[in-house]
Amino acid sequence: MNEMDGNGSAVRARMRELEEQLRRHTRLYYEEAAPVISDQAFDALLRELRGLEAEHPEWASADSPTRRVGGAPSEGFAHVAHAVPMMSLDNTYSEGDLRAFDARVRKGLALAEGAPVGYVVEPKIDGVSISLRYERGRLVLASTRGDGKTGDDITANARTIASLPQAIPCGAEVLEVRGEVCMDNAVFAALNAERAAAGEPPLANPRNATAGSLKQLDPAVTARRRLSVVLYAPGELRGAEAEAAAASQWGWLDFLAAQGFPVAPLRWRCRDIDEAWARIGELDRRRAELPWDIDGAVVKVDDAAAQRRLGATAKAPRHAMAYKYSAERARTVLRAITLQVGRTGVLTPVAELDPVPLAGSVIARATLHNEDEIRRKDIRVGDTVVVEKAGEVIPAVVGIVAAARPPDAVPYDLAAAAGGRCPACGGPISRDAGAAAWRCENMDCPAQLRGRIEHYASRKAMDIEGLGSALVEALTSEWREESDGLLAGFARVLPPAVRDVADLYSLTPADIEARRPNRAGSGRAEMKLATKLCAAIAASKSNDLWRLLHGLGIPNVGEGLARSLAAAFGSLDALMAATRDELAAVRDVGGTVADSVVGFFALEKNRAVVEKLREAGVAFDRVAKPAAGADSPSGPFFGKRVVLTGTLSRYTREEAADRLRDAGATVATAVGKTTDYLVAGADPGSKLAKAEALGIPVLDEPAFARLLGDPTDPA
Ligand code: IVH
Repeated sequence: MNEMDGNGSAVRARMRELEEQLRRHTRLYYEEAAPVISDQAFDALLRELRGLEAEHPEWASADSPTRRVGGAPSEGFAHVAHAVPMMSLDNTYSEGDLRAFDARVRKGLALAEGAPVGYVVEPKIDGVSISLRYERGRLVLASTRGDGKTGDDITANARTIASLPQAIPCGAEVLEVRGEVCMDNAVFAALNAERAAAGEPPLANPRNATAGSLKQLDPAVTARRRLSVVLYAPGELRGAEAEAAAASQWGWLDFLAAQGFPVAPLRWRCRDIDEAWARIGELDRRRAELPWDIDGAVVKVDDAAAQRRLGATAKAPRHAMAYKYSAERARTVLRAITLQVGRTGVLTPVAELDPVPLAGSVIARATLHNEDEIRRKDIRVGDTVVVEKAGEVIPAVVGIVAAARPPDAVPYDLAAAAGGRCPACGGPISRDAGAAAWRCENMDCPAQLRGRIEHYASRKAMDIEGLGSALVEALTSEWREESDGLLAGFARVLPPAVRDVADLYSLTPADIEARRPNRAGSGRAEMKLATKLCAAIAASKSNDLWRLLHGLGIPNVGEGLARSLAAAFGSLDALMAATRDELAAVRDVGGTVADSVVGFFALEKNRAVVEKLREAGVAFDRVAKPAAGADSPSGPFFGKRVVLTGTLSRYTREEAADRLRDAGATVATAVGKTTDYLVAGADPGSKLAKAEALGIPVLDEPAFARLLGDPTDPA
């Protein structure tokens, strides 16, 4: 019948379409670890196709995504309900929170004041959680966590994990054990090398590779991925031996090891939270001993009866807490090393990376410091590298994953990479004996000039708002002015508007407007911006002396030393007249800095710039009174406004405030826009929320201690 035929072909077309979509999403998800639809959307497609195949088995393709061949499950994965729910863990990044957790545990157990609780510290493995069910010693079911109540039956895939026992000596009626499937770093590196050889994109990280491998519909593919497994927790237990083994977390781990299960090789039984904290530090330092990635430590109350008394919230047990190591480290691939020419001519090697999320942003570049550092860490293009971001500092490459090195990677040679010339101006480059840095020798190198101007205008120097790097580039370059009218087609080449920092003060709004890059707005709006910038430049003439000193870019003189020198000499003229010894006598100023200062002002070129600044009306003698009691003008708290909240474990509130004042900070009671740092201890009050809302940096106790220069090593 025609009608049915018409409908039938529509159904068939839909089936082909679904197959195609499912194949595409399967590839994106499992092989490229780059899914574009949600799991639910994928399941809906799979369900629809299955439904149509059930109605019209005659139209189902032999290679339909619903029926993979090769002993694989014939359809997606069956769902299984967990006998004991698979919960999540509460986690924290701060020592204060961890101690608050300990306090809650002791309170929950109604322990006497000061009585300790025993803990086990073990690695938090960055993998995919799994539950394994053994009945009378045989593995009968492996399932994923799913939503915690129901997961996927991945038994066929789990059986391909070489280190996972299919049978165990313990004949308990039911023994469920939970842990993490993961991929050894070396396996991950080899997998990506194979993919690269086959022209396939690399997988992002071992965790993604693990997740993708476990969800393969064909276990043969999973087997090739050489996954590992680490077990740590009990699930449902029926049988005296198993139940007795689970009387403590420590005993349970020993039992698992005795049964032939892989367990974490680094684990500690601790008498109290202080020891647990020390072990957390030790684990972080020794993480390279582990074959797989970890993202923290898990602290668990050791005694199982105490665990039961503590119970659980809707999501997580109250007896355990994950302490995450700073998410400020990530791995990615180093694609190239480029060279950046700074204001002093130093050539800084910069890592060009596959973009990777790190501490809340996506990083594509990181500093490699200098050639010696690259050699010392043996960093090569093509390497998988570890990048780290500490505080506000630019991310740095801190190491490599040796196992992931491509066979053709060669040691880095800066001069060869640069072809022996400055990449910015083509001028000669050299490396002073004993110095780590290669430098461009051309004082007129445009990259150096741009760097000097940008530094002069930067927030921690003359603080000139509106002078961005694109505009600096335009102002320091030759300018082609195309003619209109009769002379159309002719161009006048203008010299750079700015050749040194003093030239900024003779810029007119018209100079700026004519050169403004990517002009977007109307001529009027552009002119307004240019006028505003000129006003900001003019306003900088009355800045404090330390800003000018810092802005001049004297080698080795950063913000802190500029403050010290300004306070000690009171004027630029007095500083220029000072002898080396007079300079070296200033607190924090040693011989090197004294030589730098003398050397800087000995150069005719620099003295000429100073005279131009004087003529432009830049103040040379503005010195604000230093904070009373300040004794370390170069420290991180010098001149800062700091607010304290919450309870610190190592300092009383008064001690913390005294230490801050000693370091030159002003200790304020309320958080406001001018606050530089909030130091937050355990149980912080509303100040924390306010600081977060205002984007003010928050220091936890370890960070605070570190900035004060106190030892923070927990061990
Ligand atoms: S205990 C009842 N121990 O972390 C909670 N979990 O963020 C049982 N994980 O879902 C978990 N290493 O997949 C525990 N040593 C470890 C762990 C660990 C990794 C995972 C686990 C959990 C997730 C929570």
